[in-house]
Amino acid sequence: MLDEASVRRVDKSGAAAHVASLPDQVVRGFQLGLKLGPLAARRRVVVLGMGGSGIAGAVLASWLAAERGAMVASVNDARLPPWVGEGDLVVAISYSGNTLETLAATRDAMRRGTDLVGLTSGGTLRDLCDGHGLPSLLIPPGLMPRSAFGYMFGGLAALFPETTADVRTAAEALRVKGTKLAPGVPEAKNAAKKLAQRVKGRTPIIYGTPTYAPVARRWQTEFNEYAKVLAWASVLPEADHNELVGWAEDPSAKRFAPIFLRDPGEIEEHRAMLDATRELMKGKTKVEEVRAEGPTLLARMLTTLQLGDWTSFYLAVLRKVDPTPVAVIGKLKAQLAKHR
Ligand code: F6R
Repeated sequence: MLDEASVRRVDKSGAAAHVASLPDQVVRGFQLGLKLGPLAARRRVVVLGMGGSGIAGAVLASWLAAERGAMVASVNDARLPPWVGEGDLVVAISYSGNTLETLAATRDAMRRGTDLVGLTSGGTLRDLCDGHGLPSLLIPPGLMPRSAFGYMFGGLAALFPETTADVRTAAEALRVKGTKLAPGVPEAKNAAKKLAQRVKGRTPIIYGTPTYAPVARRWQTEFNEYAKVLAWASVLPEADHNELVGWAEDPSAKRFAPIFLRDPGEIEEHRAMLDATRELMKGKTKVEEVRAEGPTLLARMLTTLQLGDWTSFYLAVLRKVDPTPVAVIGKLKAQLAKHR
């Protein structure tokens, strides 16, 4: 059941309110980021971050590359690529401010003399920035990092002056779409509830074209963290040159739920490959397809991401697991901290 009462019973820590706040977060994060000025204008930029923080950089970098031709590197690791140095801007994003890899890469940036900005709700990253007189963008504390995506995405986007109109349009699209996906909207009219029902019991594999790859990865990570299930993301058309064989030959294919993220602006080669792939998979399992809608690419990418957030949230409700806690990540971080 996916009515409001079942949602309330399972969602003990109020994740629904955080998922619903995505449009406001984007706007608020953007306003906060504007205070730092257009630091990322016309230069090489590297965005650091892991998990729920790193994905903000990955989504922005993918959209900027597709629409603005801007080369922004998203790094989910403890070191910077060798080409990064003086004159480059490194934006270190860690919601908690305490993530090992992000802090290590931030220190790497300090050693190399890059310009540096922190984006965090506090922790060691904030202390590092304060202690070295570096700018930092402080976002509200008290959320799970993945539930603060809008603050981090909006804050980061504000450092790039060319994003203003698109971010505004996308935030409005998120607001409109959000009202159609909320727990109060009955299943028959709620695309996220319907999709959660169809995916339940199967392992999701989310497919996106290269521009949508970070959005597909966000879907995966939300299935992992909200719904507590295994899920993977993959990129087409590349997967047609390898994974497709598994779909054709593996007798366990029906245990998986391929979810295609489609965009009306996809290039004709992508359209042809994705259509053909869907038809080939159809004989093996039920294929799900999400067709992005919206006036701009960024609006479509972010509303597709929002649909994934809600779908994984409802899958958590169907599985009767509290969407918020991710105990094992905390356990791993505690173990690593002991050995340092
Ligand atoms: C938890 C989550 C994780 C964290 C990751 C990095 O909600 O999404 O993926 O984002 O462990 O931690 P932060 O974001 O604090 O740097």
